[in-house]
Amino acid sequence: MAISFTLPKWYDLHTHFRQGENVNQYIADHLAMGCAGALAMPNTRPPVSQITGKGSEDACSIESYRAELLAAGGDAFDQLITPLYLTGDTTAEMIAEGAGSGLLQAAKYYPPHGTTNAEHGVAIDEWIGGDVFRAMEDHGVVLCIHGEQHGLVGADYFDAQQSAESVFYNEKLPAILEAHPRLRLVCEHITTSVAVDFVAQAPERVAATVTPQHLLYTVGDLIQGLKYHLYCLPLVKFDADREALRAAVTKVGQNKFFAGTDSAPHTSKVLDCGCAAGCYTGACAPQLYAMAFEQAGVDFDTDSGRAVFESFLSTNGPAFYGFATSEDTFTLSKVPSQVAVFESEEGPVVPLPVGMDLQLTWSIEN
Ligand code: NCD
Ligand code: ZN
Repeated sequence: MAISFTLPKWYDLHTHFRQGENVNQYIADHLAMGCAGALAMPNTRPPVSQITGKGSEDACSIESYRAELLAAGGDAFDQLITPLYLTGDTTAEMIAEGAGSGLLQAAKYYPPHGTTNAEHGVAIDEWIGGDVFRAMEDHGVVLCIHGEQHGLVGADYFDAQQSAESVFYNEKLPAILEAHPRLRLVCEHITTSVAVDFVAQAPERVAATVTPQHLLYTVGDLIQGLKYHLYCLPLVKFDADREALRAAVTKVGQNKFFAGTDSAPHTSKVLDCGCAAGCYTGACAPQLYAMAFEQAGVDFDTDSGRAVFESFLSTNGPAFYGFATSEDTFTLSKVPSQVAVFESEEGPVVPLPVGMDLQLTWSIEN
């Protein structure tokens, strides 16, 4: 008999649903993979950088983005978190009002030009000690942080000894914690042993999301054949980093590391000069996480193996964000499954397993 187990529906606490026609499909894919709720990142075009209002050419509001997502099928989620994009227009008053109205639960730091649609980001030094982060502390608004130092030269950006992420965690994160002793933060899509150690040693108010691709792959998988479907930011790193991530997520009793897929659909990965950053894992993330946990030595035939997976996928994230574990369930079975390319009008969206020629060894029943 194939291993099969049932667990509470899970929450994807870092994903990208974009805007427009394709949103319905992206949300449907999330619902199909047992997702009870999601945190939809604000790097849309235009960015989600206002709290209320209709928006303009330059800015969309949390209010209007939520309405769009709910109308596109997101009303089936029991939680939908829509963070504010921290830009040069963000003020402490907006934070206070947003938190008061209930629309604002989190805000996202993007390193300027650091990833897809990150051009509205403002350098971290401008925020540290400032009134916006203070207002977030006062009102319990979570800081979702894309922890990479921006503007580095190639050798500092990615090297065996350091990366944009390790620089950021060594130099900037300690300063944020010290200047803002009550700020709650989620270190998004961490990739290095430096970030793992930082989060593990930090106070309880610091947690982290980990993606399937960073648990499954290393940079060798990316550059051998230049597998651009695996190109995302932060980049997949070295084996020692992957080991550190695997150890962190599979540690019995850990409550700081949780699922955030960073599923990021792109209708065209290949650009004129370069590659769009982001891996699409809609419809297959729990299967990928299960494969990664097995590679990390977790035995799904044991209660403890299933429990550690359930904490990571279904329990730790809601606990950090302050809502209950889902009362609905879904079932994972060790039976192969497949995901399809989504042929949208804007172009094909290739899910990571297809782009990596990877066979899913698990399947889902909702
Ligand atoms: C994300 C995207 O495409 O929106 N890309 C990525 O490589 N992860 C943005 C992000 O979260 O970095
Ligand atoms: Zn992201």
